[in-house]
Amino acid sequence: MDELTVGLIGLGTVGTGVARLLTEHRDRLERRAGRPIRWKWAAVRDPHKPREIRLDGVRIVQDAGAIVNDPEVDVVIEAMGGTEDALRYTLAALDAGKDVVTANKALIAEHGREVFERARETDRAVAFEGSVGGGIPIVQSLGIALAANQVLAIAAILNGTCNFILTRMTAEGSPYEDALKQAQKLGYAEADPTLDVDGTDTAHKIAILAQLAFEADVRLGEIPRQGIDRLQAADIKYAAELGYAVKLLALAKYSPAGLEMRVAPTLVRRGTPLAEVRGPYNAVRVVGDAVGDTLFYGRGAGSMPTASAVVGDLLQVATGRAAMVSRSRPLWRSTAPAIPIVSPRDVRSRYYLRFTIADRPGVLGRLAQVLGDRGISIASVIQHEPGEDAPGPSPVPLVIMTHLAVQADLHAALDVIDRLEVVHAPSVWLGVEE
Ligand code: NAP
Ligand code: HSE
Repeated sequence: MDELTVGLIGLGTVGTGVARLLTEHRDRLERRAGRPIRWKWAAVRDPHKPREIRLDGVRIVQDAGAIVNDPEVDVVIEAMGGTEDALRYTLAALDAGKDVVTANKALIAEHGREVFERARETDRAVAFEGSVGGGIPIVQSLGIALAANQVLAIAAILNGTCNFILTRMTAEGSPYEDALKQAQKLGYAEADPTLDVDGTDTAHKIAILAQLAFEADVRLGEIPRQGIDRLQAADIKYAAELGYAVKLLALAKYSPAGLEMRVAPTLVRRGTPLAEVRGPYNAVRVVGDAVGDTLFYGRGAGSMPTASAVVGDLLQVATGRAAMVSRSRPLWRSTAPAIPIVSPRDVRSRYYLRFTIADRPGVLGRLAQVLGDRGISIASVIQHEPGEDAPGPSPVPLVIMTHLAVQADLHAALDVIDRLEVVHAPSVWLGVEE
């Protein structure tokens, strides 16, 4: 077969891993592609920056336009990040008759419809395995291997940076800021780590999985999302005491009423697989009507795990499988049936609640009364002796775990509770996933 000519945009964390595979394991890749692979171009922002990899014979440019306009290039690997330029180069590459491989979840989640429409018009493939779960092959698994199923639920840990931070805070009591710096140093975080810690990156990824699993074109704004940036160490400690780990969980659940989706720090029962996922690892639990319960686990971020997915996609393009899949399983179609997103107010869950209250007679009773008035039943309560976790006799933390409750009722109850004179700080609430 003809040589496959590759242009790579970006030589950062992901691009460097891709470059390593292309240069150090070329024989293996060519054997599996069934054709020679020629890496011709790399585009970077700063061509003078020292790089850790050998770039013999590769032309380095600042203007990625040179790559997308080169008629010799067959496939463009977009590993630059961001949305504006990445979208422009992706569309230009498709228009110029090139296939595109990307690990850019922001691009796919926010511009999937435009990108895939253009791919259909130009009869080109866009492969994006690296965009969700780093090295975990979840995109192909959901899109191809599990295609016979009606997916019923996805529950996933999809951000390596957040899971790394939470693991450090839980296991070593590390301050949030130290754990974040370490995650950035290890190359897990996005160029702007706000996107990791505020839940945006996870929301992008669950939106992509929702398209693959449910053909749902979910907009970012439709996914209720909360990050770990406002999570307090006290809640991790109380959760542990109750037998739970706190994870930044992405959920997508299918019901006749529609799709229930959210991204939030959530209490996950210790001993269940998702609770035991540590460090930069990700895991995706998929429940299908035919297959039942499945779990995908692996490194969700970092140079080589992501490069594994990106270069895997490159081989799919090289062999023609990516084109076949694109034609047979069209994504982000405007004709796909619309699935309503269930209002968060209607969601039923168990809840973890932490109140900061005056340690006086009758206070627990007043809180229980407000919760009970909204049909919220208490499953367990923790209040420590003064001195253990509060210096004086008052105010003190009070932690309550509820049975299943409707979120609208919870909010109504918390509105009342937060206005009681015995309550000294806004209440904290987190969902619980058993
Ligand atoms: P990164 O380390 O910041 O690297 C970005 C690369 O793109 C750099 O080499 C940069 O050049 C180059 N670049 C940026 N703007 C450019 C422009 N306008 N023209 C040409 N080159 C440009 O980012 P990354 O972590 O590798 O992430 C890349 C993509 O992969 C993102 O979409 C990210 O969400 C996704 N992703 C990342 C991971 C991960 O673990 N990091 C995992 C999965 C997916 P310079 O080197 O000169 O600055
Ligand atoms: N910043 C992302 C993370 C990279 O930490 O998971 C992988 O998508």
